Amino acid sequence: MKYIEDIDVLGKKVILRLDLNVTIDHGNIIDETKIKKSIPTIKYLLNHGAHVLIMSHLGKIKNEKDKENNSLKVVCNRLSELLEEQILFIDDPLSEQLQSCLEDNCLVMMENTRFLDYPNKRESGCDDELAKFWASLGDVFINDAFGTTHRRHASNCGIAKYLPSGYGFLINEELVGLEPIINNVQKPFVVVMGGAKVDDKIKLISSLLEECDYLLVGGGIANTFLRALGYNIGNSLCSYEYLEEVRNLCGKYSEKLVVPTDVIVEDSGVTRRCYVNEITNDCTIFDIGDDTLFKYEKYIQLASTIFQNGTMGKYEDENYRNGTESLFKMYDQSDAIIIAGGGDAVAAVNTLGYEKAFDFLSTGGGATLEYIATKKLKCFEGDKNDSRS
Ligand code: 3PG
Repeated sequence: MKYIEDIDVLGKKVILRLDLNVTIDHGNIIDETKIKKSIPTIKYLLNHGAHVLIMSHLGKIKNEKDKENNSLKVVCNRLSELLEEQILFIDDPLSEQLQSCLEDNCLVMMENTRFLDYPNKRESGCDDELAKFWASLGDVFINDAFGTTHRRHASNCGIAKYLPSGYGFLINEELVGLEPIINNVQKPFVVVMGGAKVDDKIKLISSLLEECDYLLVGGGIANTFLRALGYNIGNSLCSYEYLEEVRNLCGKYSEKLVVPTDVIVEDSGVTRRCYVNEITNDCTIFDIGDDTLFKYEKYIQLASTIFQNGTMGKYEDENYRNGTESLFKMYDQSDAIIIAGGGDAVAAVNTLGYEKAFDFLSTGGGATLEYIATKKLKCFEGDKNDSRS
């Protein structure tokens, strides 16, 4: 895959795959980082005489209702404001008019690529006919969706099979910014892993444990670790189907895995701190406690490189913000190379105002974890023209 600057786009119709998968709450975009970071590539293409069709996914589409809640229209409106350019929005990702609209307009965005996931998983199943149709709309394909470079979907790997392809400025910035946690990582390397569920991450956690010196667990995923270790976690979120796998990890990597010793819970409407052996059936865990923070601080002080994914708790609620914010304060005092990745982690950094504590903020959650764990990204695999190598 070539770098965008090495491709002639003058007068060409360019299919631009972006990752505009942002959290939207009641019509409000919670964090605009991904949208803003996509702008340099769009501007470059427009300034170099291309007509651009923007594609992106948003959320996961498992039924018709999910389509109602995951339209890209609100993102399109915001992008248009930020760019100060009109964008023609086409609400059918299979519309026969896409081609003529792109010929007549410089900037077109189509509806969520994952609308094709229901009922037949055509996008995430990398359906060849779908990839061919989307590829038929343009002359060149530019992938700048770093957040999905670990996925083999019709709108990334699929289209790339049928068009001359390249990657944009955002992906390039990610490859450069993530370098310190990919090659010759300065040790000790500490991974801080939070977020809601173990499900998406379980396969990667064991690979990460091979790469890092310590893995500190927080957020919802810590609940599954605590349950696997035999603690009562009350009503807390837990991935019960992965308990056995997590228990095995705890046994195999007991020297590297560090789990909370105390937590902040909501107990019958009251917020309180308790040690993990004191959690009762009425409790719901929403943050890590001071004892845990004191323990984690020692690992942070020891680290030469730190990567954080997810948050330590429900930081949006000030009752449960302390774990996430205290870690950011520790990073601020540290000389280690510190990188955060994933929508929630980056949103927390921006919301709480700790951007300066980090060397790089990655737009990739799963993509960055997979990149650290495997040193590969599926969108670049098997590409003979991979100009990064
Ligand atoms: C992300 O937010 O990490 C990317 O947009 C990928 O989203 P996905 O996990 O739904 O594929």
